[in-house]
Amino acid sequence: MWKYIAGTIVVSSVAYSLIKYFRGGVCHCTARLDGLVVVITGANSGIGRALALELAQRGATLVLACRDVEKGLNAKKYIISHLRNKNIKIFVKHLDLCDISSIIKFSDTLNKEFREIYALVNNAGVFYHPQGLTKDGFEITLQTNYLGHYILTHHLLKLLRKAVHARIVNVSSEAHRNVNIYDLKAVTKCQEEFRSHFVAYGVSKLALVLFTKQLAKKLSNTNIIVNAANPGNVETNIYRNFPLLSNPWLYALQWPIRCLVVKTPKQGAQTLLHCLLTSNRSTGQYYSDCKLDLPSPIASNDQIAKDYYELTTEILSDRFSTESEC
Ligand SMILES: NC(=O)c1ccc[n+]([C@@H]2O[C@H](COP(=O)([O-])OP(=O)(O)OC[C@H]3O[C@@H](n4cnc5c(N)ncnc54)[C@H](OP(=O)(O)O)[C@@H]3O)[C@@H](O)[C@H]2O)c1
Repeated sequence: MWKYIAGTIVVSSVAYSLIKYFRGGVCHCTARLDGLVVVITGANSGIGRALALELAQRGATLVLACRDVEKGLNAKKYIISHLRNKNIKIFVKHLDLCDISSIIKFSDTLNKEFREIYALVNNAGVFYHPQGLTKDGFEITLQTNYLGHYILTHHLLKLLRKAVHARIVNVSSEAHRNVNIYDLKAVTKCQEEFRSHFVAYGVSKLALVLFTKQLAKKLSNTNIIVNAANPGNVETNIYRNFPLLSNPWLYALQWPIRCLVVKTPKQGAQTLLHCLLTSNRSTGQYYSDCKLDLPSPIASNDQIAKDYYELTTEILSDRFSTESEC
């Protein structure tokens, strides 16, 4: 009998410690964002929607940038019904990061409709997406996660500059550590396939950390701070193409472990929220679990960040110019 009780206590304590450890940091900032405009890409599900809910609670005016407006409107309904507050200002706008003309149209609309923007959260993303090219001729994962956000950010800089303080948060991932410099340079050959789906994702997330570093430098004398956030391992739709999790049987087998070690979207949104609310105005940094973290050696290299920014500008040069914005 005593053995059974002791066993139960040990198992429960281990499970509790694991859950506590893996749920990660919690944002304790109490700042409010009343009336400040925050644009979130991919805000209709997962971490983006959870972040939108947290920000709506803090009074922000939200622009949910979604490739499927219907899903965006459902997210808006979810937030309003959750907070039981019809006065929250939420705008749902169409944005497809795989289509440069859609990014430009979206930015033009915002430039016409808003006087300033407090924050841009580059959150939308795909993982393990079947490889292929967008209509603009770039690899799908690379354009969705990185190139599209690169263009969007430059098109919204004018609005961000008009705010007293402004922030850009690029949602990256620990997967940025899993690729090498040769994989990274594959962007120059981005009309070809990457070595694997993992590499495509890793490169896109490394590119976001490098972009963060270089953009922060370019904007160092302005009102805008730029940081990268790693949400951790979060239970969301992002795994829809990943065979180990999209197969219901394999998923069921892993479920007991996943319950212990995988974050909820609300927990995953905490580091992003921290980057938006913290009074620490350091810029060009990588955050994990609501704390500053060191990114990979490649991502920490100033020269690589500069070269990669220039390379990206060059491959996008016939689509837009960063000159006027930066
Ligand atoms: N979940 C994790 O474990 C994890 C770990 C590290 C980093 N992250 C990062 O966290 C971010 C949010 O992902 P999530 O986990 O919350 O996954 P999610 O629920 O699948 O959310 C991704 C969002 O991106 C949108 N999106 C995809 N392609 C797009 C496009 N071409 N144009 C505009 N929007 C597009 C999706 O729209 P649809 O609903 O229409 O597909 C969805 O709203 C991603 O950048 C991801 O890489 C996630």
